[in-house]
Formats: sequence, structure tokens, C-alpha cells
Amino acid sequence: MEEKYTKLFNMAVKASESSYSPYSQFRVGAALLCKDGTIYTGCNIENAAYPLGVCAERTAIFKAVSEGKRDFEAIAIAGSGSDDFSSSCYPCGACRQVMSEFGENDFKIVLSDNIFTLEELLPYSFKL
Ligand code: THU
Repeated sequence: MEEKYTKLFNMAVKASESSYSPYSQFRVGAALLCKDGTIYTGCNIENAAYPLGVCAERTAIFKAVSEGKRDFEAIAIAGSGSDDFSSSCYPCGACRQVMSEFGENDFKIVLSDNIFTLEELLPYSFKL
């Protein structure tokens, strides 16, 4: 994997340290690389009213968009129920749809040992 994506993945692992996940005990971190080089991180944030929880990927994307960023190159995702982040944590369907709102088809999704394009993980995506 290209070094910049390895670094982005390591930032996602680091971001998972802020995960608030007392219900699932599954910590997720994300690191979103904007085309201008800036990086926004996010973690999953759960709630006692379960559906109100938010995924790490959407936290990172919403942080970036709320700061005026809309052009994204890649997002790294690290998720684990332990301290081992070596298994791929694939983004949920809702997060894939949010990525497709802002990401181009070649937007990259960086997992522990593999990189996919958004087109690969969400073909024929819904657009208004
Ligand atoms: N989670 C994410 O943060 N991202 C995903 O793509 C899948 C799931 C979180 C949501 C919840 O806090 C925990 O993982 C278990 O589902």
C-alpha cells in the first residue's frame, strides 16, 4: 500500500481511541483525506437510544463538510472489538451512501490491507 494510505489508516486506528461505544464495545475510527491535503478524523459515537448512534465514517465526513470541505480523495477505516485492527472493517451501507453524496466513483476506501473504490463497494448508487 502507498505510504500515504498506510499513514491514513494509522490515523484511523488512532481516531478509534476516541470511540464512544459502551454498548457494542466495537471501536471504529476513520480518517478522511481531502483533495487539498487536509485530514479529518472521526469515531463512532453510540447512544442509549441505539438508533441515534453514528458511525466513524459519517462523523469524519460531516466534520469536513461542516468546515466547508467537499472534495475528498480517500477515507481510511479501522474497526475492532479488540486491540487488533488487522481485519478489514467494511463501511456500512448508510456510510457508503453518504460517501457517494460527496465522493467521486474513484474515491478510495482504505481498509487494513486493501483499497477499494467507492464504485466497487457501491455500484449503481442512488443519485437524485
Ligand atoms: N460502525 C461504524 O462506526 N462504522 C461502520 O461502517 C460500521 C459500524 C459502528 C456503529 C456502532 O457504533 C458499532 O460500529 C457497532 O455496530
